[in-house]
Amino acid sequence: MNRNQDQLKLAVARAARDYVAAHLPQGALLGVGTGSTANLFIDELAAIKARLGGTVASSEATRQRLEAHGIRVLELNAVESLPMYVDGADEIDHSLAMIKGGGGALTREKIVAAVAGIFVCVCDQSKRVTTLGKFPLPLEVIPMARAQVVRELARLGGQARLREGFVTDNGNLILDVHGLTIADPRALESELDHVAGIVANGLFARRGADVLLLAGSAGVSTHTRSA
Ligand code: A5P
Repeated sequence: MNRNQDQLKLAVARAARDYVAAHLPQGALLGVGTGSTANLFIDELAAIKARLGGTVASSEATRQRLEAHGIRVLELNAVESLPMYVDGADEIDHSLAMIKGGGGALTREKIVAAVAGIFVCVCDQSKRVTTLGKFPLPLEVIPMARAQVVRELARLGGQARLREGFVTDNGNLILDVHGLTIADPRALESELDHVAGIVANGLFARRGADVLLLAGSAGVSTHTRSA
């Protein structure tokens, strides 16, 4: 990551704080994502923590960072609804479908996103793509299924490589799949959902973002998913 990208991540983190302050009702709950952009957002969120009813974290790292700022974190099972979720992405296309999981938190991110009313994605311009797939697609995999999932992905035209030395918050492995050109993200997401041993795949297409805050050299722009 270069200095310019750091500045864009900080700019979008601040824009997300302002978006939350403007759109999340006083006392409501907020879902919080994982990754370097989400971390900057958490640091900014501390300034408006008094207006939050609480948060739900998409990873242990995020839970710890929120709590270090004195921000209340609730278990998802204790929550009936979550009006808004703010998270980053590794790639996002023009329909606001995403690849996520570069930080390995994709399963919990997908669960929190499923509960959330509005998904606000926060990215710098390097994440915007026409076609998903240049960023290796993360899969969370049950350890005993690793070799079988590698074979299944080869059948789909991808090279799945073990993320060495990484264990997810759920005690599983991550395979990063190289070489995919994802022409139909919804279809591939569904297909991977049916491969035995894959807990979750990093395609967020059926439940993509609703709003994208995108930081570029001209500032932060807001994009809304078209119906
Ligand atoms: C975490 O598992 C990911 O889904 C992140 O949201 C994604 O990798 C973006 O992370 P950065 O903000 O660090 O690029």
